[in-house]
Amino acid sequence: MAVVMSSAIASLGIASPSFSSTHPKRHGLPQSTPRTSVRMSVSLDEKKKSFSLQKSEEAFNAAKELMPGGVNSPVRAFKSVGGQPILIDSVKGSRMWDIDGNEYIDYVGSWGPAIIGHADDKVLAALAETMKKGTSFGAPCLLENVLAEMVISAVPSIEMVRFVNSGTEACMGVLRLARAYTGRSKIIKFEGCYHGHADPYLVKAGSGVATLGLPDSPGVPRAATIDTLTAAYNDISAVEELFKSHKGEIAGVILEPVVGNSGFITPKLEFLEFLCKITKENDALLIFDEVMTGFRLAYGGAQEYFGITPDLTTLGKIIGGGLPVGAYGGRRDIMEMVAPAGPMYQAGTLSGNPLAMTAGIHTLQRLKEPGSYEYLNRITGDLIQGILEAGNKAGHAMCGGYISGMFGFFFTEGPVHNFADAKKSDTAKFGRFFRGLLEEGVYLAPSQFEAGFTSLAHSLQDIQQTVAAAERVFQRI
Ligand SMILES: Cc1ncc(COP(=O)(O)O)c(C=O)c1O
Repeated sequence: MAVVMSSAIASLGIASPSFSSTHPKRHGLPQSTPRTSVRMSVSLDEKKKSFSLQKSEEAFNAAKELMPGGVNSPVRAFKSVGGQPILIDSVKGSRMWDIDGNEYIDYVGSWGPAIIGHADDKVLAALAETMKKGTSFGAPCLLENVLAEMVISAVPSIEMVRFVNSGTEACMGVLRLARAYTGRSKIIKFEGCYHGHADPYLVKAGSGVATLGLPDSPGVPRAATIDTLTAAYNDISAVEELFKSHKGEIAGVILEPVVGNSGFITPKLEFLEFLCKITKENDALLIFDEVMTGFRLAYGGAQEYFGITPDLTTLGKIIGGGLPVGAYGGRRDIMEMVAPAGPMYQAGTLSGNPLAMTAGIHTLQRLKEPGSYEYLNRITGDLIQGILEAGNKAGHAMCGGYISGMFGFFFTEGPVHNFADAKKSDTAKFGRFFRGLLEEGVYLAPSQFEAGFTSLAHSLQDIQQTVAAAERVFQRI
């Protein structure tokens, strides 16, 4: 794990990026950027265009009359950073274009799935082929076998897998399974971790719940959360205490093995080792929610990266290559509880549909090529080091870190080991930084409490441009 404070980097000498309506797709530039090439998507002598979000503003005002808050997922609404969201017209590689024609280097990556870059040519071609045969069968297909084999051979804990349609569904399924297998009801989750929006997990949750500062959600009955126990992340004694006071009642412990939903927070290795030990000693199950970290930190996810094998794992995002997907899997004896092999019921109309399977297969094939994670690690390291260096130089107290293609930083000196530490960050300053970068053509997650993501399509030039933009923004916030 790499945690970077500031250290010197060479002066980058990059000229200002300009906004441009030039679209590489339409100009026949390489569609799949070679990993090590330096791509100039925005030519420096191109005419600068003034930054306007007029069309986005108008469309968002209309959207607010049509959909709650104008969006279909809360964090997209920019509530914690101020201003209005931009509406996206298209994506390619490391870039996004909004409906006003502004171009952005994107570090959200559709919240994780776009690890090989947006709209990868091979994925799109494979999808077009699959689509000729139909979009959904509602019956088994060979593509499910292919992706299942790829997931099982990659992820150490997974001997059998069930595909679903989202990370939320995966986490709902895994909870029911842990309860069915152990015959117990209680579950331990950690403050600031997000496991989707199912009732039992909406207790001290991260992501949008943390971003919007919501205590719990109305509409969640007390009965649904009565068996949810919480502890601070990285806090061994709090977990010990819960196992002591609820002896024989705890079905499992679920966690983000690297937190992305309170900002980027790494686990202490001894914390993961301890969770492994205490769950074993108490006949409870250890569940890694790898919806975000799966295939991102390493091909085998956080469990490969840290060398800790949980009993059960949830996946999502990357394994669908940008189409809706989720999965849960684990030890064969546990998974055989799932219907129709066993009595634990869980189902889905579109589960394992051929399009999601196809996008997942081709995304994983690309990721498996040698050097993928080394490349992600290198560019993400350069990025976070450059940002922290620039921030510190401009007099801002900051800390941050990264692993492979996942990163984050806080406007506090740190260290940040849990959600309470993360909340010490100056979120108003983050908002100013976010909006400054947006105007410079860089799109970060619109919340301090979300991790950032790089992709194989991010070039060294992208990183340098981003750091140069950050240097300018740090001067004026
Ligand atoms: C760790 C984790 N678990 C579960 C989920 C829920 O996934 P979805 O949004 O696909 O329902 C997310 C979403 O960001 C996540 O980061």
